[in-house]
This record gives sequence, C-alpha cells and structure tokens, in this order.
Amino acid sequence: MKKNRPQVTIAMDGPAGSGKSTVARRIAERLGLLYLDSGAMYRAVTLLAIADSLPADSPKLIAQVKMCHIEFRDNGKTILLNAEDVSVQIRTPAVNRLVADVAKIPEIRQEIVRHQQRIGAEGSIVAEGRDLTTIVFPDADFKFYLDASVTERAKRRLAELQAQSVDTTLAAVEAEIRERDEKDATREHSPLRVAADAIIVDTTDRTIDEVVDFIIAQVIEN
Ligand code: DC
Repeated sequence: MKKNRPQVTIAMDGPAGSGKSTVARRIAERLGLLYLDSGAMYRAVTLLAIADSLPADSPKLIAQVKMCHIEFRDNGKTILLNAEDVSVQIRTPAVNRLVADVAKIPEIRQEIVRHQQRIGAEGSIVAEGRDLTTIVFPDADFKFYLDASVTERAKRRLAELQAQSVDTTLAAVEAEIRERDEKDATREHSPLRVAADAIIVDTTDRTIDEVVDFIIAQVIEN
C-alpha cells in the first residue's frame, strides 16, 4: 500500500457464496481496516418489513428505513438496528427469502448507499456486496470481483447449512443460488455487474487464505 495514501478504500463485489464476506473480513483484520458488510444492512432493514408485515415496496417501509438507525460494532461482527442487536436474526430463512425484494427498491438502496458512503468517508475500509465497486465507491483505490462456479458456491452454502443442522440437499441449494443470482443480476436498480476496472478473482479452486494473500499482495504492491 503506498505510504502516502491517507485513507484506503478496498471494494469487493460478487455473487452469494463467492467467499467475499470471509475474505473481506480477514483482509480487514490483517490490514487493520474497518469491515463493511453491506448485505447485512439490507438484511437489517428487511427485519423492519417482517416485523410489521410490510410489502417491500410499501411507502411505510421506505419511511421506516429513512428513520432507522443502523450501526456496526466489533468490526462488523455485530449489527444494531435501532439499538437492538440483530446479528443472528438477519441470517434467518425469513430474511433470506425477502431480502432480494427489499434490496431492489430504489428509495431503500439510496438510503443505504448514503449510509455506506458516510462510513467510507470516516476512514479506511474493506467493503463488500453487490454494488460497492460500481455505485457506492466508484473511485475505490482497489476493486475486486470474486466469483466461483454455481456448484462450488452451493457446496459452500450447504456446508454452512449443515453446520446449523438444516436438512437440505445440494440440488435445492443450487436452485436457490441460481434464483438469487438471477434476481441480483437482472434487477433494474444497481444490478450485480463487474466494474470495468475490477480485478476478477475466481475462488472456485482456491482456499480462503490463497484469495486473501492474493488480494493483500495486490494492495501492498500498488
Ligand atoms: O451478501 P448477502 O447475501 O448478505 O446479501 C443479502 C441481499 O442483499 C442479497 O439479495 C443481495 C442484496 N445486496 C445488495 O443488493 N447490494 C449490496 N451491496 C449487498 C447486498
């Protein structure tokens, strides 16, 4: 990393299961940067919709999102929504099912993006999600796009679910991932796409450590 950089922004995008959350978290720890999990913010506001049974596009939900307070603690491990720790709740199946619909509402994205940009302006960060390299931090110092084959991503997700004793199959998980990819890539606002100046990292046959080392080497050399 060049010594004269006052502040560094590393932005990473990629589909679900590409490994970007784990990779971003480790890079943040190793380089002493703040970790910004943008998906967690969309998940947190999805809880507002669930709590009041609001459809994703309801004006009431948009108003609640504008007024809510989201805060990260413990370098991204803990997320507070209106002062309540929702770190576990945001990973439940109910949220998994609804979050893509909430994340496609432009007024909601606008609010969350602004919040992310405020966090980014405060100091050096590693931020990951679907539009960090394209919309949130188009001028990021480093941009990476992590990807992996659908089958590999499904295997990773299956292992996570089995660890939580969820009874499912590889085929079911693969179908869910394909559906989510399709929604993320074809939505009208801020679809997942590769930024022209992003380095593409295929994580299919690489360990987390190999990906982390590769990205850190890019950052340190430049
Ligand atoms: O990365 P994740 O699975 O926690 O993301 C949850 C959802 O939020 C997923 O449907 C994609 C969406 N998302 C988004 O639209 N933009 C981001 N920057 C991050 C996540």
